[in-house]
Amino acid sequence: MKTARLAAACLTLFTTAANAATATRGEFGALADGTKIEAVTLANDKGMSARIITLGATLQAVIVPDKNGRKEDVTLGYDKAQDYLTRPNYFGVSVGRYANRIAKASFVLDGKTYKLAANDGPNSLHGGTRGFDKRVWTIENVTSGPDARVTLSYISADGEEGFPGQLRATVTYTLNEQNELQVDYGATTSKPTVVNLTNHAYFNLSGNAARDVMGHLVTLKAERFTPVDPTLIPTGERRPVAGTPFDFRKPTAIGARIRDASNAQLRIGRGYDHNFIVDGKAGDMRTAAIVEDPVSGRVMEVRATAPGIQFYTGNFMDGTYFGKNNRAYRQGDALCLEPGTFPNAPNNPGFPSARLNPGQAYFNSMVFAFRTR
Ligand code: GLA
Repeated sequence: MKTARLAAACLTLFTTAANAATATRGEFGALADGTKIEAVTLANDKGMSARIITLGATLQAVIVPDKNGRKEDVTLGYDKAQDYLTRPNYFGVSVGRYANRIAKASFVLDGKTYKLAANDGPNSLHGGTRGFDKRVWTIENVTSGPDARVTLSYISADGEEGFPGQLRATVTYTLNEQNELQVDYGATTSKPTVVNLTNHAYFNLSGNAARDVMGHLVTLKAERFTPVDPTLIPTGERRPVAGTPFDFRKPTAIGARIRDASNAQLRIGRGYDHNFIVDGKAGDMRTAAIVEDPVSGRVMEVRATAPGIQFYTGNFMDGTYFGKNNRAYRQGDALCLEPGTFPNAPNNPGFPSARLNPGQAYFNSMVFAFRTR
Protein backbone atom coordinates (compact mmCIF):
# COMPACT_ATOMS: atom_id res chain seq x y z
CA MET A 1 0.00 0.00 0.00
CA LYS A 2 2.76 2.36 1.10
CA THR A 3 4.77 1.50 -2.00
CA ALA A 4 1.80 2.19 -4.21
CA ARG A 5 1.29 5.61 -2.61
CA LEU A 6 4.98 6.43 -3.00
CA ALA A 7 4.90 5.35 -6.61
CA ALA A 8 1.84 7.54 -7.18
CA ALA A 9 3.58 10.50 -5.55
CA CYS A 10 6.66 9.98 -7.69
CA LEU A 11 4.51 9.76 -10.78
CA THR A 12 2.79 13.05 -9.89
CA LEU A 13 6.16 14.73 -9.36
CA PHE A 14 7.50 13.36 -12.61
CA THR A 15 4.42 14.37 -14.58
CA THR A 16 4.46 17.90 -13.14
CA ALA A 17 8.10 18.39 -14.14
CA ALA A 18 7.61 16.88 -17.56
CA ASN A 19 4.49 18.96 -18.16
CA ALA A 20 6.15 22.22 -17.21
CA ALA A 21 5.04 24.34 -20.16
CA THR A 22 1.31 25.02 -20.15
CA ALA A 23 -1.21 26.23 -22.69
CA THR A 24 -4.28 27.98 -21.27
CA ARG A 25 -7.35 28.90 -23.23
CA GLY A 26 -9.20 32.09 -22.36
CA GLU A 27 -11.13 35.06 -23.72
CA PHE A 28 -9.88 38.19 -25.46
CA GLY A 29 -13.02 40.30 -25.59
CA ALA A 30 -15.09 40.84 -28.70
CA LEU A 31 -15.00 42.79 -31.94
CA ALA A 32 -17.37 45.73 -32.43
CA ASP A 33 -19.78 43.43 -34.29
CA GLY A 34 -19.92 41.10 -31.27
CA THR A 35 -17.64 38.37 -32.61
CA LYS A 36 -15.90 36.78 -29.64
CA ILE A 37 -12.12 36.53 -29.79
CA GLU A 38 -10.27 33.83 -27.89
CA ALA A 39 -6.74 33.78 -26.53
CA VAL A 40 -4.30 30.99 -25.75
CA THR A 41 -1.43 31.71 -23.39
CA LEU A 42 1.66 29.54 -23.59
CA ALA A 43 3.86 29.71 -20.49
CA ASN A 44 7.00 27.90 -19.40
CA ASP A 45 8.90 27.48 -16.13
CA LYS A 46 11.56 30.01 -17.14
CA GLY A 47 9.25 33.01 -16.91
CA MET A 48 8.54 33.28 -20.62
CA SER A 49 5.02 33.39 -22.02
CA ALA A 50 3.31 34.16 -25.31
CA ARG A 51 -0.31 35.03 -25.99
CA ILE A 52 -1.95 34.16 -29.29
CA ILE A 53 -5.41 35.44 -30.23
CA THR A 54 -7.79 34.00 -32.79
CA LEU A 55 -8.10 37.29 -34.69
CA GLY A 56 -5.40 37.02 -37.33
CA ALA A 57 -3.76 34.14 -35.39
CA THR A 58 -1.92 37.06 -33.87
CA LEU A 59 1.01 36.89 -31.49
CA GLN A 60 -0.43 39.48 -29.11
CA ALA A 61 2.26 39.44 -26.41
CA VAL A 62 5.63 37.85 -25.70
CA ILE A 63 6.85 38.21 -22.12
CA VAL A 64 10.56 37.54 -21.61
CA PRO A 65 12.81 38.08 -18.55
CA ASP A 66 15.68 40.58 -18.86
CA LYS A 67 19.18 40.02 -17.42
CA ASN A 68 17.83 40.79 -13.92
CA GLY A 69 14.88 38.47 -14.31
CA ARG A 70 12.40 41.28 -14.95
CA LYS A 71 9.54 39.96 -17.10
CA GLU A 72 8.32 42.40 -19.73
CA ASP A 73 6.59 42.38 -23.08
CA VAL A 74 8.96 42.49 -26.06
CA THR A 75 6.31 43.00 -28.75
CA LEU A 76 4.10 45.86 -29.86
CA GLY A 77 0.37 45.36 -30.08
CA TYR A 78 -3.06 46.26 -28.80
CA ASP A 79 -4.98 45.42 -25.63
CA LYS A 80 -8.29 45.32 -27.50
CA ALA A 81 -9.11 43.00 -30.40
CA GLN A 82 -11.04 45.67 -32.32
CA ASP A 83 -7.92 47.89 -32.47
CA TYR A 84 -6.29 45.30 -34.72
CA LEU A 85 -9.03 46.05 -37.27
CA THR A 86 -9.47 49.79 -36.88
CA ARG A 87 -5.81 50.69 -36.43
CA PRO A 88 -4.15 48.10 -38.62
CA ASN A 89 -0.39 47.93 -38.38
CA TYR A 90 -0.01 44.17 -38.66
CA PHE A 91 1.31 43.99 -35.07
CA GLY A 92 2.20 40.31 -34.54
CA VAL A 93 -0.37 39.10 -37.05
CA SER A 94 -0.25 36.12 -39.36
CA VAL A 95 0.00 37.63 -42.83
CA GLY A 96 -1.52 35.99 -45.90
CA ARG A 97 -2.33 34.90 -48.47
CA TYR A 98 0.72 36.79 -49.69
CA ALA A 99 2.92 38.58 -47.17
CA ASN A 100 4.51 41.81 -48.46
CA ARG A 101 3.93 43.28 -51.91
CA ILE A 102 2.71 42.10 -55.28
CA ALA A 103 3.50 44.72 -57.93
CA LYS A 104 0.63 46.56 -59.62
CA ALA A 105 -1.74 44.33 -57.65
CA SER A 106 -1.74 41.61 -60.27
CA PHE A 107 0.09 38.46 -61.30
CA VAL A 108 -0.08 35.84 -64.03
CA LEU A 109 -0.31 32.14 -63.22
CA ASP A 110 -0.52 29.53 -66.00
CA GLY A 111 -1.38 32.24 -68.52
CA LYS A 112 -4.24 33.71 -66.51
CA THR A 113 -4.09 37.21 -64.99
CA TYR A 114 -5.30 37.59 -61.41
CA LYS A 115 -6.33 41.05 -60.18
CA LEU A 116 -5.91 41.97 -56.54
CA ALA A 117 -6.89 45.05 -54.54
CA ALA A 118 -4.31 47.85 -54.73
CA ASN A 119 -4.08 48.76 -51.03
CA ASP A 120 -0.56 50.21 -51.00
CA GLY A 121 -0.21 52.77 -53.81
CA PRO A 122 -0.34 50.75 -57.03
CA ASN A 123 0.57 47.51 -55.24
CA SER A 124 -1.09 44.79 -53.20
CA LEU A 125 0.19 44.57 -49.61
CA HIS A 126 -0.14 41.72 -47.11
CA GLY A 127 -2.96 39.80 -48.77
CA GLY A 128 -5.22 42.71 -49.74
CA THR A 129 -8.06 44.65 -48.18
CA ARG A 130 -9.03 41.87 -45.80
CA GLY A 131 -6.09 39.55 -45.51
CA PHE A 132 -5.59 36.65 -43.10
CA ASP A 133 -4.69 39.15 -40.36
CA LYS A 134 -8.29 40.41 -40.33
CA ARG A 135 -9.95 36.97 -40.22
CA VAL A 136 -10.90 34.98 -37.19
CA TRP A 137 -8.94 31.72 -37.14
CA THR A 138 -10.18 28.47 -35.56
CA ILE A 139 -8.36 26.88 -32.63
CA GLU A 140 -7.68 23.28 -33.69
CA ASN A 141 -5.62 22.01 -30.82
CA VAL A 142 -4.21 23.16 -27.49
CA THR A 143 -1.66 21.01 -25.63
CA SER A 144 0.44 21.38 -22.49
CA GLY A 145 3.76 19.75 -21.62
CA PRO A 146 6.52 19.07 -22.24
CA ASP A 147 6.07 21.91 -24.76
CA ALA A 148 3.05 24.22 -24.81
CA ARG A 149 1.38 24.37 -28.18
CA VAL A 150 -1.58 25.81 -30.05
CA THR A 151 -2.62 25.15 -33.64
CA LEU A 152 -5.02 27.45 -35.49
CA SER A 153 -6.47 27.18 -38.98
CA TYR A 154 -8.10 29.40 -41.55
CA ILE A 155 -9.79 28.35 -44.76
CA SER A 156 -9.52 30.96 -47.48
CA ALA A 157 -12.18 30.55 -50.16
CA ASP A 158 -11.31 30.11 -53.83
CA GLY A 159 -11.15 33.67 -55.22
CA GLU A 160 -10.95 35.42 -51.85
CA GLU A 161 -9.09 38.73 -52.29
CA GLY A 162 -8.56 37.68 -55.92
CA PHE A 163 -6.35 34.63 -55.27
CA PRO A 164 -7.14 31.31 -57.00
CA GLY A 165 -7.78 28.07 -55.10
CA GLN A 166 -9.24 27.28 -51.73
CA LEU A 167 -6.31 27.53 -49.33
CA ARG A 168 -6.29 25.73 -45.99
CA ALA A 169 -3.76 27.57 -43.82
CA THR A 170 -2.51 26.46 -40.42
CA VAL A 171 -0.17 27.91 -37.86
CA THR A 172 1.29 26.21 -34.79
CA TYR A 173 2.92 28.20 -32.02
CA THR A 174 5.14 26.12 -29.70
CA LEU A 175 6.89 27.32 -26.56
CA ASN A 176 9.51 25.09 -24.94
CA GLU A 177 11.57 25.27 -21.73
CA GLN A 178 14.55 26.73 -23.62
CA ASN A 179 12.68 30.04 -24.17
CA GLU A 180 12.22 29.21 -27.84
CA LEU A 181 8.98 30.12 -29.54
CA GLN A 182 8.57 28.22 -32.79
CA VAL A 183 6.02 29.33 -35.38
CA ASP A 184 5.14 26.85 -38.13
CA TYR A 185 2.98 27.90 -41.05
CA GLY A 186 1.48 25.32 -43.38
CA ALA A 187 -0.95 25.34 -46.29
CA THR A 188 -2.59 23.19 -48.92
CA THR A 189 -4.59 24.33 -51.93
CA SER A 190 -7.35 23.07 -54.22
CA LYS A 191 -5.90 24.79 -57.34
CA PRO A 192 -2.47 26.18 -58.27
CA THR A 193 -1.97 29.43 -56.35
CA VAL A 194 0.69 31.64 -54.78
CA VAL A 195 1.31 31.74 -51.06
CA ASN A 196 3.61 33.48 -48.59
CA LEU A 197 2.58 33.22 -44.94
CA THR A 198 4.58 34.79 -42.16
CA ASN A 199 4.38 36.39 -38.76
CA HIS A 200 4.62 40.17 -38.51
CA ALA A 201 5.74 40.60 -34.88
CA TYR A 202 7.18 44.00 -33.99
CA PHE A 203 9.98 43.42 -31.48
CA ASN A 204 11.37 45.84 -28.95
CA LEU A 205 13.70 44.08 -26.52
CA SER A 206 13.88 47.02 -24.09
CA GLY A 207 10.64 45.73 -22.54
CA ASN A 208 7.19 47.33 -22.76
CA ALA A 209 8.61 49.53 -25.57
CA ALA A 210 10.37 51.67 -22.96
CA ARG A 211 13.00 52.88 -25.45
CA ASP A 212 13.24 52.87 -29.25
CA VAL A 213 15.29 50.18 -30.99
CA MET A 214 18.00 52.38 -32.49
CA GLY A 215 20.51 51.05 -29.95
CA HIS A 216 19.60 47.40 -30.57
CA LEU A 217 22.50 45.51 -32.15
CA VAL A 218 21.44 43.54 -35.20
CA THR A 219 23.23 40.72 -37.00
CA LEU A 220 21.77 39.53 -40.30
CA LYS A 221 23.17 36.36 -41.84
CA ALA A 222 22.86 37.77 -45.33
CA GLU A 223 25.51 38.50 -47.93
CA ARG A 224 22.94 40.10 -50.23
CA PHE A 225 19.65 41.94 -50.17
CA THR A 226 17.05 42.86 -52.78
CA PRO A 227 16.99 46.62 -53.54
CA VAL A 228 13.59 48.17 -54.27
CA ASP A 229 11.99 50.69 -56.62
CA PRO A 230 10.25 53.80 -55.21
CA THR A 231 7.08 51.76 -54.51
CA LEU A 232 9.10 49.22 -52.48
CA ILE A 233 8.97 46.50 -55.16
CA PRO A 234 12.29 44.63 -55.57
CA THR A 235 14.03 45.51 -58.82
CA GLY A 236 15.17 41.90 -59.22
CA GLU A 237 18.78 42.67 -58.35
CA ARG A 238 20.54 40.68 -55.61
CA ARG A 239 22.97 43.27 -54.31
CA PRO A 240 25.95 42.46 -52.05
CA VAL A 241 25.64 44.19 -48.67
CA ALA A 242 29.42 44.69 -48.41
CA GLY A 243 30.36 48.35 -48.13
CA THR A 244 26.74 49.52 -47.67
CA PRO A 245 24.53 50.43 -44.65
CA PHE A 246 22.88 47.05 -45.34
CA ASP A 247 25.89 45.15 -44.08
CA PHE A 248 24.77 43.59 -40.79
CA ARG A 249 27.09 40.61 -41.00
CA LYS A 250 28.68 41.87 -37.77
CA PRO A 251 26.48 43.12 -34.87
CA THR A 252 25.63 46.77 -35.65
CA ALA A 253 23.32 49.25 -33.98
CA ILE A 254 20.21 49.87 -36.08
CA GLY A 255 20.65 53.60 -35.63
CA ALA A 256 24.29 53.66 -36.71
CA ARG A 257 23.58 54.19 -40.42
CA ILE A 258 19.80 54.51 -40.72
CA ARG A 259 20.01 58.29 -41.34
CA ASP A 260 22.58 57.96 -44.12
CA ALA A 261 20.76 60.07 -46.71
CA SER A 262 23.47 59.39 -49.29
CA ASN A 263 22.04 55.88 -49.61
CA ALA A 264 19.14 55.86 -52.07
CA GLN A 265 17.74 52.58 -50.68
CA LEU A 266 17.50 54.00 -47.16
CA ARG A 267 15.81 57.10 -48.58
CA ILE A 268 13.20 55.02 -50.42
CA GLY A 269 12.51 52.84 -47.37
CA ARG A 270 12.60 55.76 -44.90
CA GLY A 271 14.98 53.43 -43.11
CA TYR A 272 15.19 49.67 -43.42
CA ASP A 273 12.29 48.01 -45.21
CA HIS A 274 14.09 45.42 -47.29
CA ASN A 275 14.24 41.72 -47.99
CA PHE A 276 17.58 40.16 -47.08
CA ILE A 277 18.59 36.90 -48.73
CA VAL A 278 19.32 34.52 -45.88
CA ASP A 279 22.66 32.70 -46.30
CA GLY A 280 22.51 28.92 -46.58
CA LYS A 281 19.91 26.62 -48.02
CA ALA A 282 16.24 27.59 -48.01
CA GLY A 283 14.18 24.83 -46.45
CA ASP A 284 16.84 24.20 -43.80
CA MET A 285 16.29 25.77 -40.39
CA ARG A 286 19.25 28.15 -40.00
CA THR A 287 20.08 31.31 -38.08
CA ALA A 288 18.86 34.35 -40.00
CA ALA A 289 19.23 37.14 -37.46
CA ILE A 290 20.39 37.95 -33.94
CA VAL A 291 19.15 41.03 -32.07
CA GLU A 292 20.58 42.27 -28.79
CA ASP A 293 19.50 45.07 -26.50
CA PRO A 294 22.65 45.91 -24.51
CA VAL A 295 20.66 47.70 -21.77
CA SER A 296 18.17 44.98 -20.82
CA GLY A 297 20.59 42.23 -21.85
CA ARG A 298 17.85 40.50 -23.85
CA VAL A 299 19.01 38.65 -26.94
CA MET A 300 16.73 37.21 -29.61
CA GLU A 301 17.90 34.81 -32.28
CA VAL A 302 15.70 34.25 -35.31
CA ARG A 303 16.03 30.93 -37.13
CA ALA A 304 14.14 30.36 -40.33
CA THR A 305 13.56 27.97 -43.20
CA ALA A 306 12.57 30.76 -45.62
CA PRO A 307 14.79 32.03 -48.43
CA GLY A 308 14.41 35.66 -47.32
CA ILE A 309 13.73 37.85 -44.32
CA GLN A 310 12.10 41.29 -44.43
CA PHE A 311 13.89 43.67 -42.07
CA TYR A 312 11.58 46.59 -41.28
CA THR A 313 12.24 49.30 -38.69
CA GLY A 314 8.67 50.51 -38.13
CA ASN A 315 9.18 53.43 -40.52
CA PHE A 316 5.47 54.04 -41.03
CA MET A 317 4.60 54.41 -37.35
CA ASP A 318 3.88 58.09 -36.74
CA GLY A 319 2.76 58.37 -33.14
CA THR A 320 -0.94 58.04 -33.95
CA TYR A 321 -1.13 54.39 -32.84
CA PHE A 322 -1.68 53.89 -29.14
CA GLY A 323 -0.79 50.38 -28.15
CA LYS A 324 -0.43 48.27 -25.05
CA ASN A 325 0.18 50.20 -21.81
CA ASN A 326 -1.29 53.28 -23.51
CA ARG A 327 1.95 53.87 -25.33
CA ALA A 328 2.13 55.89 -28.57
CA TYR A 329 4.26 54.07 -31.12
CA ARG A 330 6.62 56.14 -33.26
CA GLN A 331 9.05 55.50 -36.08
CA GLY A 332 11.89 53.27 -34.92
CA ASP A 333 10.03 51.95 -31.89
CA ALA A 334 10.33 48.36 -33.08
CA LEU A 335 11.85 46.10 -35.66
CA CYS A 336 10.25 43.35 -37.69
CA LEU A 337 12.04 40.31 -39.01
CA GLU A 338 9.59 38.53 -41.27
CA PRO A 339 10.86 35.29 -42.79
CA GLY A 340 9.29 34.48 -46.15
CA THR A 341 9.81 34.22 -49.84
CA PHE A 342 10.80 37.42 -51.63
CA PRO A 343 8.33 40.29 -52.17
CA ASN A 344 6.66 40.19 -55.58
CA ALA A 345 7.96 36.66 -56.30
CA PRO A 346 4.78 35.84 -58.30
CA ASN A 347 5.92 38.39 -60.91
CA ASN A 348 9.61 37.61 -60.80
CA PRO A 349 10.71 34.30 -62.35
CA GLY A 350 14.24 34.87 -60.99
CA PHE A 351 13.03 34.76 -57.38
CA PRO A 352 12.30 31.62 -55.32
CA SER A 353 8.88 30.41 -56.39
CA ALA A 354 5.76 31.24 -54.38
CA ARG A 355 3.69 28.73 -56.31
CA LEU A 356 1.74 26.02 -54.50
CA ASN A 357 0.08 23.15 -56.38
CA PRO A 358 -2.68 20.83 -55.16
CA GLY A 359 -1.13 17.84 -53.41
CA GLN A 360 1.86 19.87 -52.23
CA ALA A 361 2.36 20.98 -48.63
CA TYR A 362 3.59 24.55 -48.15
CA PHE A 363 5.58 25.27 -45.01
CA ASN A 364 7.38 28.24 -43.48
CA SER A 365 8.92 27.69 -40.04
CA MET A 366 10.67 30.13 -37.77
CA VAL A 367 12.02 30.17 -34.23
CA PHE A 368 12.33 33.21 -31.98
CA ALA A 369 14.83 32.10 -29.33
CA PHE A 370 15.48 34.30 -26.29
CA ARG A 371 18.38 34.46 -23.87
CA THR A 372 20.17 37.14 -21.83
CA ARG A 373 23.75 38.23 -21.44
C1 GLA B 1 6.07 45.23 -44.15
C2 GLA B 1 6.33 46.15 -45.28
C3 GLA B 1 6.34 47.56 -44.81
C4 GLA B 1 5.05 47.90 -44.09
C5 GLA B 1 4.83 46.91 -42.97
C6 GLA B 1 3.49 47.09 -42.30
O1 GLA B 1 7.17 45.11 -43.33
O2 GLA B 1 7.52 45.84 -45.97
O3 GLA B 1 6.54 48.42 -45.90
O4 GLA B 1 3.98 47.88 -44.97
O5 GLA B 1 4.89 45.61 -43.45
O6 GLA B 1 3.22 48.39 -41.97
